[in-house]
Amino acid sequence: MNLEGKVAVITGAAVRIGRSLALALAEAGVDICIHYHSSKQEAEQTCAEIRQRGRKAIAVSADLSDSCNAAALIINAVVAEFGRVDILINSASVFENKSLLISTEFDWDSHLDINLKAPYFLSQQFAKTFHPGQTGQIINLVDWRALRAGAGHLPYRISKAGLVTLTECLALELAPEIRVNAIAPGAILPPPGQDAKYLDKRAAQIPLKRAGSPQDICDAVLYLLHADFVTGEVLNVSGGEQFSS
Ligand SMILES: NC(=O)c1ccc[n+]([C@@H]2O[C@H](COP(=O)([O-])OP(=O)(O)OC[C@H]3O[C@@H](n4cnc5c(N)ncnc54)[C@H](OP(=O)(O)O)[C@@H]3O)[C@@H](O)[C@H]2O)c1
Repeated sequence: MNLEGKVAVITGAAVRIGRSLALALAEAGVDICIHYHSSKQEAEQTCAEIRQRGRKAIAVSADLSDSCNAAALIINAVVAEFGRVDILINSASVFENKSLLISTEFDWDSHLDINLKAPYFLSQQFAKTFHPGQTGQIINLVDWRALRAGAGHLPYRISKAGLVTLTECLALELAPEIRVNAIAPGAILPPPGQDAKYLDKRAAQIPLKRAGSPQDICDAVLYLLHADFVTGEVLNVSGGEQFSS
């Protein structure tokens, strides 16, 4: 896909990995809708930095735990502003370390709503905007942990495993117009509340013996956006951690 002049929606794009993706796509010539929930100031700052790069940007706030309404609100806002949408990147997420015995119904619902149900209904609203001959792409941010069993983070793992299945099914359902792929990051940024020591500890278990960076995720997203014969793939960007014991 030639990215110049395309329009992308990126969820959770005011801060952290989503923000890096927004700036990288703007550098590649894409106009951006920054979705955010609570990070209003950071969303406006990211929009300003996109405009400095010569691209258009809007910020749209929506709570993805109200997934169906939020999806319609976000896609309608971007179509009203830009006339169409070509790329959807589902990056917003919640990540709580809840095991079976301590997790509540709220934990289950919030992970499934924000990490899985919202990408589902955003994909639906996105696909409904397409007219014959238009091509587009969806990229879902999953996790290498979604692809193998493990203890802890149970609602999170299940939500991301569901997002892998959604990626594979939509690749078939939305072909040939829309390619659908996923990126499975490893240790990229410490979770909120943790510092760099968290990543140093993780690095020992990573075959490449270091954490990754948001730039590694941007490189993978740009690869998938350009890879016109790739759909239904999950690309691990994890330093080989998916093979560690
Ligand atoms: N960081 C890593 O090393 C790593 C590792 C594996 C997988 N991943 C995946 O990569 C993606 C990006 O990671 P990240 O660490 O940058 O993400 P993150 O900081 O965990 O979350 C990104 C954004 O999600 C938004 N969000 C949370 N609850 C929301 C809600 N109810 N409604 C709407 N938005 C909500 C927040 O937006 P506001 O700030 O505006 O509230 C937040 O900034 C995620 O899907 C994550 O699971 C990341």
